[in-house]
Amino acid sequence: GRTAAVIPAAGRGVRLGPGAPKALRTLGGVPMLVHAVRAMARARAVSLVVVVAPPEEEAVAEVRALCAQALGGAGTAGGTAPGAELLVVPGGGTRQESVARGLAALPADVDVVLVHDAARPLVPVATVDAVAAAVRAGAPAVVPALPLADTVKQIAPRTGAQEDGAPEPVVATPERALLRAVQTPQGFDRAVLAAAHEKIALAGEGATDDAGMVERLGLPVVLVPGHEEAFKVTRPLDLVLAEAVLARREG
Ligand code: CTP
Ligand code: MG
Repeated sequence: GRTAAVIPAAGRGVRLGPGAPKALRTLGGVPMLVHAVRAMARARAVSLVVVVAPPEEEAVAEVRALCAQALGGAGTAGGTAPGAELLVVPGGGTRQESVARGLAALPADVDVVLVHDAARPLVPVATVDAVAAAVRAGAPAVVPALPLADTVKQIAPRTGAQEDGAPEPVVATPERALLRAVQTPQGFDRAVLAAAHEKIALAGEGATDDAGMVERLGLPVVLVPGHEEAFKVTRPLDLVLAEAVLARREG
């Protein structure tokens, strides 16, 4: 079977502040999404890239044109490129829904899926290759992860009465050495990820990462080393860091 990359790119980027949808904001003059698409297409294993675009018709068309060009394709639906085919589908209201729409678009011959945030445009290709290789070697779910720099505190669930910025009581301090911050691409056996998405959606539950859904099925998830440059562009300061990383790379 083939390995496909699904790239959720349908978010608005509320935390980044006003402007274009986050995936279309530029780094070094190139849309973040284009960096992400190239990073996935450069991986030897990846022969299909499925981009999940903001759902508006114009956004889908713009994303299709940008990505087709990035892959050196013809600029139309299904435009091919050296090594990677492109599909663009409209996204949903949550990341989870967007990923589910990407999964639904996969052809039958895909048996390994990498899910990669458009908001992690600078992931090194070695990280992508390592995740794909671990899935091919038999792991049903593989996640790149790094140790934490900050100590983490657990708080009680918020009650309706609590105001933003009010002091929050601490409940516990998990041992930092036993915690990991997770990144993407997360790699999966396709059938496992599809089953996880179906069950979690049926249960009406949410999840902030795909591997979390696989864990809830009771299946093993393993971590491989992530990379600092696979950080997620979330807030304005992250754009400053991303521009600097890119300049260092190109310099
Ligand atoms: N995403 C998506 N569909 C959504 C929400 C998010 O495809 N309905 C994607 C984003 O485009 C991004 C990835 O999921 O590539 C990670 O999400 P996040 O960093 O939270 O991006 P946004 O949701 O766009 O940002 P914010 O939460 O600040 O609005
Ligand atoms: Mg979000």
